[in-house]
Amino acid sequence: MSLQVSPLTPEFGARVTGVDIAVPLDFEVFREIRAAFDRYSVLIFPGQSLDDETQIAFSERFGPCEGTKTANPAAGTVFARQSNLDMKTGEVIPPDDRRMFYQKANYLWHSDSSFKVTVSLCSILSAREVPPEGGATEFASTRVAYDSLSDAEKAELDMLEVEHDFNHSRGLVGFKFTAEESAHFPPVRHKFVRTNAGNGRKSVLIGAHAKGIIGWPAEKGRALLDDLQERATQPEICLRHEWQTGDTIVWDNQAAVHRATAYDTNKHRRLMQRTTISSKGAWPEFAA
Ligand code: SIN
Repeated sequence: MSLQVSPLTPEFGARVTGVDIAVPLDFEVFREIRAAFDRYSVLIFPGQSLDDETQIAFSERFGPCEGTKTANPAAGTVFARQSNLDMKTGEVIPPDDRRMFYQKANYLWHSDSSFKVTVSLCSILSAREVPPEGGATEFASTRVAYDSLSDAEKAELDMLEVEHDFNHSRGLVGFKFTAEESAHFPPVRHKFVRTNAGNGRKSVLIGAHAKGIIGWPAEKGRALLDDLQERATQPEICLRHEWQTGDTIVWDNQAAVHRATAYDTNKHRRLMQRTTISSKGAWPEFAA
């Protein structure tokens, strides 16, 4: 088997075949995957067979997995479960249940964990059970947004910090954390422009968690964030993946945003397991 990386759009995204990511990978093979990740930001591995244990092992090749401590049903583990299935019974969860309401924010463009003190390197989502229609995931490159700016605008952005806030983003869909949950997620500040240490490509840290630009009036910051998101998410430059069971996608949370899309949650079953890898202690160690 030899690894093949086939680009999916002119700017980003690639399909990776010729590799079984459920088994321990040679250093050289993983290095090729890691290089493709830096180059393409979103890697689609079709038809894999990850279970929880092998997903963790593959994830840890990139770096340490974050823990999940939210209203996500998998709280207390390294997984963030994207699913309409009750973890204990396996039955479909009613749409008005808080667990489903919580997941509604995934329909907004976002960068996973950008509301945490340490930004994440990447997420890995594996499809365990997919609906026969709907439930695709869409991706957009935030390098495209940065690249579209003038030199003067880039120079200005390079100096900025952005505030990301989980209470803000969940609030956009009307979801409210309890006071106890909310206390886990104070707003955080990050450098707005991210630089990939492997290739120097720059991107912007945008998406639903981004609330404002530090030191700017709220309205001006909102306008800039909205403008950049619009540049990144023009439909003709986005990547949409219709899932088949087993497909696994790795995406760079600093160079791409993503969103889930709707499916009939009453009628169909969907179970996706996500691991999110911290940029702290990731391999190779990049100071992002
Ligand atoms: C996510 O937002 O991290 C998951 C996307 C999906 O479930 O399609």
